[in-house]
Amino acid sequence: MSDPKTASAPWTTGITRIEPNCVAVRGHDIAALMGNVSFGAAVYLLLRGELPDDKVGRLMDAILVSSIDHGATPPSALAARSAASTGASLGSCVAAGILMINDFHGGAIQKCAMQLGYIVKRCDEHGGDLTCVASAMLDEMKSSGQRMSGFGHRVHTSDPRTDRLFELAEEAGVAGAHVAASRAVEDVFKSAGKNLPINVDGAIGAILADLGFEPAVMNGLFMIARVPGLIAHATEERQRQRPMRRIDPVNHTYDGPGTGSSA
Ligand SMILES: CC(C)(COP(=O)(O)OP(=O)(O)OC[C@H]1O[C@@H](n2cnc3c(N)ncnc32)[C@H](O)[C@@H]1OP(=O)(O)O)[C@@H](O)C(=O)NCCC(=O)NCCS
Repeated sequence: MSDPKTASAPWTTGITRIEPNCVAVRGHDIAALMGNVSFGAAVYLLLRGELPDDKVGRLMDAILVSSIDHGATPPSALAARSAASTGASLGSCVAAGILMINDFHGGAIQKCAMQLGYIVKRCDEHGGDLTCVASAMLDEMKSSGQRMSGFGHRVHTSDPRTDRLFELAEEAGVAGAHVAASRAVEDVFKSAGKNLPINVDGAIGAILADLGFEPAVMNGLFMIARVPGLIAHATEERQRQRPMRRIDPVNHTYDGPGTGSSA
């Protein structure tokens, strides 16, 4: 028999139950979650519908921490600062930053996961080893002028975040075929004389795919992670700089903890 409440409703949602004095996320009482599960575990619950085990919860936290900020040069930080310099509201600054998250900045996660998925599927269906299949795919991509998402970085030649994420994925026992495929891609680039290491987007894409996340939400993890960074940049811009200054995208100096005598 259908629930009379839902039967009369014009549409339904399965995310969070709200009734007087009751908030339940995916069926879990919010007060019981508070103080007991980490933010990363709660994000997993919201997006997957069930709580992760402790190790995967820790991995989710690490994914969110890995992308919390990357200084003032990423397009999203520059956009948030540019908006702040015009006197925009905090919400507009954050929205401006989020709008910069696309294929080449923070938005390579989903595409990378799908490209790695293609390698894994081709190996499963036709046999052959990951490196050969990756090599053939990269040749095809190169000839059609496409880039492999999740590889290469403007600053890092060995991104400190990726090794740690892979280490935690191993510890959680979830590093599988997509992580292996990402290593194979890196090797193929290396043998072609190109230093295009797996970047943080690529590592997150490989891990989320091995965790079974649906591609449609993957770039969202980077957005969730980067919002605190955007808030910090917009706030600092307002506090330290004059309105509508000309923002040089690269020529600035870090003066926070770890510099000079504060190290
Ligand atoms: C991040 C990125 C924009 C940095 O680029 P960059 O260091 O400035 O490198 P360039 O754009 O100057 O490219 C240098 C060479 O490497 C190649 N290259 C760079 N990234 C590549 C990639 N992901 N796949 C294939 N080739 C790539 C370029 O085609 C170029 O080759 P060429 O010298 O034969 O012309 C670039 O690596 C990229 O597009 N990566 C994919 C998107 C991505 O993962 N973004 C998230 C970043 S955290």
